[in-house]
Amino acid sequence: MVRMNLDEIQKREAELYSQVFSRLPIAIERGQGMYVWDTDGKKYLDMCAGVAVNSLGHAHPKLIAAITEQSKKLIHCSNWFYTTAQLDLAELLIKLTSMKKTFITNSGTEAVEAAIKLARKATGKTEIIAMENAFHGRTLGALSLTHGEKYRKPFLPLIPDTKFAKYNDIDSLKNSITDKTAAVILEAIQGEAGVILPDDSYLKEVRELTQEKEILLILDEIQTGFGRTGKMFAYEHSGIQPDMVCMAKGMGGGFPIGAITFSCTDFEAGEHGGTYIGSPLACAVANTVIETIISDKLVENSAAIGKHLLDSIPESRGKGLMIGIPADDGRKKVIELIEKGVLTLYSGNTVRVLPPLIIEKKHAEEFLSAI
Ligand SMILES: Cc1ncc(COP(=O)(O)O)c(C=O)c1O
Repeated sequence: MVRMNLDEIQKREAELYSQVFSRLPIAIERGQGMYVWDTDGKKYLDMCAGVAVNSLGHAHPKLIAAITEQSKKLIHCSNWFYTTAQLDLAELLIKLTSMKKTFITNSGTEAVEAAIKLARKATGKTEIIAMENAFHGRTLGALSLTHGEKYRKPFLPLIPDTKFAKYNDIDSLKNSITDKTAAVILEAIQGEAGVILPDDSYLKEVRELTQEKEILLILDEIQTGFGRTGKMFAYEHSGIQPDMVCMAKGMGGGFPIGAITFSCTDFEAGEHGGTYIGSPLACAVANTVIETIISDKLVENSAAIGKHLLDSIPESRGKGLMIGIPADDGRKKVIELIEKGVLTLYSGNTVRVLPPLIIEKKHAEEFLSAI
């Protein structure tokens, strides 16, 4: 492999690859624990975890062992056949969310697609209500529930019978519901919008309203799930039980996988599917990642270190290790932090901090002195 500097990599990419990403000026080559190294060998503290994905940090021995061991046995065999890794994962996800069934996917947006189809199928109704500033993914169904104009406008028209209520405003939701409404979907904390937290009572009010109107409540826990906010799932902070949960990101520790769990009516044979979904490899990895999150008490760690960070940065907001810090210009601040050897992300004028759940106090101190 020819070694290239950042300038050369950027030029090659402009020639070879869709210019769809507005990338930050750094090419990452390898990682270990809480750190990554760029192609020039410079070390960075990873405070974004690949957008809340690398829950166990980089090159975690248990993750490597799970990939290695399962690869030796069976990587893929298709959903024409039964596999037990799929069942082990299903059992774990059902237990964690107190649901009846699971359907596994390859990504977050696919989990949302499955949720849309299942909500329509289970209720016999078509309308789905999402929230203003929500982000649920970029495939056409999920995009129909994603609010930002920059994501939607070039691809209109999207799927019909979708609409947006104001987040954290129960009357706005009440006024949006019709007899066609199948489901309400929302994030317990809005992530891509810039770490937006609703009032403590809001999710409870949404649950009561959806129950009263016999509408499914779908929680998109794709970013907030698996310990990110200091609970296994962020809806647990409100003590509610949704009808469906969408998950992805943190559950695979970097291996692409997503899922829904649900307590409504199931699909019938042939109504949904996919070649790669629930592969033995993906399921074995997710099982290991989630079991490690539990055995190493990483949810508790997320709550404790998150609280320390939030207490130490007075202007910050968030829960657990999902933190937003206001900045005049988010991108500029993130680049400034890269220069200081720290990786974060941004949404508009918010710096987003989403470190691996293995973060220790010493890493938090390193971050605090940089910011
Ligand atoms: C809340 C939420 N839903 C859905 C998605 C889409 O997930 P994916 O990028 O895996 O398709 C994301 C990704 O950022 C997300 O944060």
